[in-house]
Amino acid sequence: DDWELKICCMGAGYVGGPTMAVIAKRCPKIRVCVVDISQKQIDAWKTDDLPIYEPGLLEVVQECRGRNLFFSTDIATEIEAADIIFISVNTPTKTQGIGAGRAANIKNCELCARTIADVATTGKIVVEKSTVPVRTAQAIARVLQSNEKGLKFQVLSNPEFLAEGTAIADLMNPDRVLIGGQQSEEGLAAAAKLVSVYAHWVPREQIITTNLWSSELSKLVANAFLAQRVSSINSISALCEATGADVLEISRAVGMDDRIGKRFLQPSIGFGGSCFQKDILNLVYLCETYGLNECAAYWNQVILMNDFQKKRFSEKIVASMFNTVTGKKIAMLGYAFKKDTGDVRETPSMFVLRDLVHEQANVHVYDPQVKREDMWIEMDYTCGMNKDNTPRLEESVVTAPDAYAACEKAHALLILTEWDEFKTYDYKKIYDSMMKPAFVFDGRNLLDHDALRAIGFEVHALGKPDPLKFSDL
Ligand code: NAI
Repeated sequence: DDWELKICCMGAGYVGGPTMAVIAKRCPKIRVCVVDISQKQIDAWKTDDLPIYEPGLLEVVQECRGRNLFFSTDIATEIEAADIIFISVNTPTKTQGIGAGRAANIKNCELCARTIADVATTGKIVVEKSTVPVRTAQAIARVLQSNEKGLKFQVLSNPEFLAEGTAIADLMNPDRVLIGGQQSEEGLAAAAKLVSVYAHWVPREQIITTNLWSSELSKLVANAFLAQRVSSINSISALCEATGADVLEISRAVGMDDRIGKRFLQPSIGFGGSCFQKDILNLVYLCETYGLNECAAYWNQVILMNDFQKKRFSEKIVASMFNTVTGKKIAMLGYAFKKDTGDVRETPSMFVLRDLVHEQANVHVYDPQVKREDMWIEMDYTCGMNKDNTPRLEESVVTAPDAYAACEKAHALLILTEWDEFKTYDYKKIYDSMMKPAFVFDGRNLLDHDALRAIGFEVHALGKPDPLKFSDL
């Protein structure tokens, strides 16, 4: 075989799968194999029913699979064959023990390093792709170096900045690629090798190299800054509702200052997803570990504001609907944490669902990509709610085949994810099928509220002046 290079990626999830698919597409002479301990996950990657939904992903996988992109559970063989090994496994928040609820658990990363040290017979470049606490590379390097075969490994940090829902576009055209390495001759050579992989399609000036610790920490900082913008604008949405100001007008006015920038200033029911909360908690925990309590409290406030925004939304629903939703049918449109993904990890919709179930509403959920079984797994994992400790949980939540079915005879319609298709519905037809007064709670400011009010809906939007409450001068 005359491959230019052989890459193995441990972890075939939201990051490992799309990242390796794009490397394979852009580097036809590099052999790329994605391995995982989950047989189910690997089997799914070999079909056209991929384990994750991501626009454009299937086309890339179909183009490369069997050519230079492979999926396997034979981890030892693939490690042995590879020159570069990416570690792209999950690093969730610890649920118990020291740092529970804040520290990231890097046990999967350590296990990967142990597997590599065990089975490798030649030295490798090992790349941390997972998001990890700063100085994890030191732990990985020590585990690798304690092999008894005298093998030399190089550890690089190469955090991933893709966003779910736009992963393929982000990978094809990244703002930057970040590679951290040891500042020694061997470390710089290893970093140069990884640079040469990305240089197949990323302009050289967008590939930046740093020391290991800057690279690891940059990923946490990037996510903390992004989440901070969401919490900042969400805090202002609450103030808008109290004063009659319009948060969208504010986003526009503030965002046109190019020191601030336009993006990530949309109010919402709060950020979700597997990364923001986990990575900020990780940053908070790191600050505390180094005795920087003020820094920890500063970043923790981003999470507290997000919790407030989710709770505020549920409370607004109940308060507006005459202080009771008991026994009422409520249609929930959107469950994924954002559009164009089926991912429900930490989705804000789950917290609204939890609150409505506690209020004994009957919730009918429609989402174009979310699988019902995933709702229960995440609900149990994040909210500790399952059918054993919450009677009628599964009966009071119906997953509807479409939005019209979800809304029929409902008292309220909630927009919780900004799916494009929600903008295209016949809302007159939906209004006619609903109970009156027919409430809309638009948690994404997605719909045309004037048009809905003209139909007869009572519309509650985030950070938008309520015409029943405020008038112009
Ligand atoms: P995921 O949960 O979708 O995938 C992780 C995969 O690793 C799973 O399929 C699991 O079976 C596998 N795995 C666990 N231990 C293993 C082992 N010892 N050997 C082989 N495979 C193993 O996780 P996801 O979302 O892909 O995240 C991975 C990392 O990337 C995390 O550290 C995350 O913080 C980071 N990240 C995630 C982003 C996202 O949008 N999801 C974006 C940027 C970074």
